[in-house]
Amino acid sequence: MGTVFLNGNFLPLEQATISPLDRGFVFGDGVYEVIPVYGGRLFRLEEHLVRLDGSLEGIRLASPHTHAEWTRILRELVERNQGGDQSVYLQITRGVAKRDHAFPRDCAPTVFAMSSPLAPVPAEIRRTGVAAITLPDIRWQYCHLKTIALLPNILLRQQALDNGAAEAILIRDGEATEGAASNLFIVRNDTLLTPPKGPRLLPGITRDLILELATHHGIAQREAVITQDDLTGADEIWLSSSTREILPVTRLDGRPVGGGTPGPLWHRMIDWYQDYKRAYQKHGDTLHGPAR
Ligand code: PDD
Repeated sequence: MGTVFLNGNFLPLEQATISPLDRGFVFGDGVYEVIPVYGGRLFRLEEHLVRLDGSLEGIRLASPHTHAEWTRILRELVERNQGGDQSVYLQITRGVAKRDHAFPRDCAPTVFAMSSPLAPVPAEIRRTGVAAITLPDIRWQYCHLKTIALLPNILLRQQALDNGAAEAILIRDGEATEGAASNLFIVRNDTLLTPPKGPRLLPGITRDLILELATHHGIAQREAVITQDDLTGADEIWLSSSTREILPVTRLDGRPVGGGTPGPLWHRMIDWYQDYKRAYQKHGDTLHGPAR
């Protein structure tokens, strides 16, 4: 895992130590981001930093760094880990204090960042798609905040794996919200649908990009409530995240989705996504310039 960043210093992972009284460890009192890096360039960094600000504000923790400072820190972390394709993990907790539920006074937040190699999504998955199961959304009511307290997500993901599926699609009050660690899309009658942003789901950076790519390429798309029946009748189902890009779901609860193979719109979207990634490495965000 190489070099990590901890509270102002770059150091080897083996030398990075955190007090057991850190509120991240004791309470799960913190937030995080996962940012992909392609060809040494942090992908959609500004969007991730804006979401980080929202998560910090949501837990009433002042941001320890400006965007310019985060950018410097994370770029250096990427360089020190030899560039290429990486997955950067950034975590901020409320810091080290005597255990007490109330916010501590005069407590410096703990800032930790690490980077791991970002493995490409296996070609086999792209060919066959993945299985998913629906499960009740047992999480709390602030799912728009990217907090490190992920026990419900972990239990849900594991339940999916135990049932031979790659992801759980979560249902709350009869509506699909998102995956345990991904956002949800369906295709119905050539229209791309995804649940509206709000406290029930994380505002995914990949989700936003997919909607932008759809608009750019003239695909009908909108935010809409997706019921369990909508899922069952969908032509295509996709799951999106920074680490797994766009996964086609080809089996849901043991039944084939559409034709049981990755659908035609998914094939187009994954190509647009890869093109955008390549262009981003060279030129940054190209979607808002002239059409390519
Ligand atoms: N998770 N919803 C949840 C609950 C998530 O945990 C994630 C990502 C997403 C997708 O967001 P984005 O496109 O910004 O990655 C949606 C990361 C990858 C993780 O926890 O490792």
